Amino acid sequence: MKSTEKIWVNGEFVDWKDARVHILSHALNYGTGIFEGLRVYPNSDGKAIFRLKDHMKRFLEGARVLAFDVPYTHEELCEAVKETVRVNGEVDYLKPCAFLGGEWVGLNPIGVPVTVSITAIHMGSYLGKDIQEKGAKLITSSWKRPWNMAAPAGAKVNGLYVTSCLAKMEAVKNGANEALMLNAQGNIAECSGENIFIYKRGKLYTPKTTDSILEGITRNSIMQLAEDRGYDMIETEVSRLEAYTADEVFMTGTAAEITPVTMIDHRPIGEGVPGKVTRELQEAFHEVVTGKDTRYADWLDHV
Ligand SMILES: Cc1ncc(COP(=O)(O)O)c(C=O)c1O
Repeated sequence: MKSTEKIWVNGEFVDWKDARVHILSHALNYGTGIFEGLRVYPNSDGKAIFRLKDHMKRFLEGARVLAFDVPYTHEELCEAVKETVRVNGEVDYLKPCAFLGGEWVGLNPIGVPVTVSITAIHMGSYLGKDIQEKGAKLITSSWKRPWNMAAPAGAKVNGLYVTSCLAKMEAVKNGANEALMLNAQGNIAECSGENIFIYKRGKLYTPKTTDSILEGITRNSIMQLAEDRGYDMIETEVSRLEAYTADEVFMTGTAAEITPVTMIDHRPIGEGVPGKVTRELQEAFHEVVTGKDTRYADWLDHV
């Protein structure tokens, strides 16, 4: 990851090194924040942000879940994200955050001031170019996805990512690239920071939104691209057995984009190499985000 010059904090740009919070900030101690992740892609006429309006809508929905009073409209936030791209040099990833600051100890979040920030970085490939091309190895985590009885599982709440961090660490320490996470029913939910799809007997399946997943914007884009290409796209429960015996498996996410999965729990998926459908959708996605496929031009906000 490469840092950039300026970070947008509460409506103003500050130097990267000056974007600091107090050690007692509520979010640092109790995880009370929400965030987003967006990608910026080179297009023929400059740069474009992928599905900016949808990401910032989800951002404000997350803020509503935590009852945050965010003093910016959706339009103002979208403009601030664009401005953050403009003032910084080479960027490909943006991280808007809203979190509770404060300088005291105590769980009650009522009245603790909200800070809103937008950081731009150069991330490159999140899982690594090699993995994105040749496929990832997954291991089913012993950590389950938070579910609706325990937490707002469908929101990007900072504190909930402890589970994702533990799962990711467990996967890496066991020689895998990503963690496959199950929900309370024992079905597949998603990965530590990606949604999951399987392709089996000519149909595409992905866990449904009530299966303790984050409703990914890349997931939604791939579902639409697949349907537009004539694939049967089904949102349903997906078991571990169905994933083991699938012809193809792939992950989707803003950071990971479309990444083939070639191994789960030491079992090769299909032929053990990225499959045809995965490749087709990976390529289709690339054409969309770079503006070459103009049918999805409204998913791009040019900067
Ligand atoms: C837990 C989790 N699942 C799935 C995703 C993929 O969502 P999106 O495609 O909106 O980036 C993310 C990334 O934001 C995530 O953190």
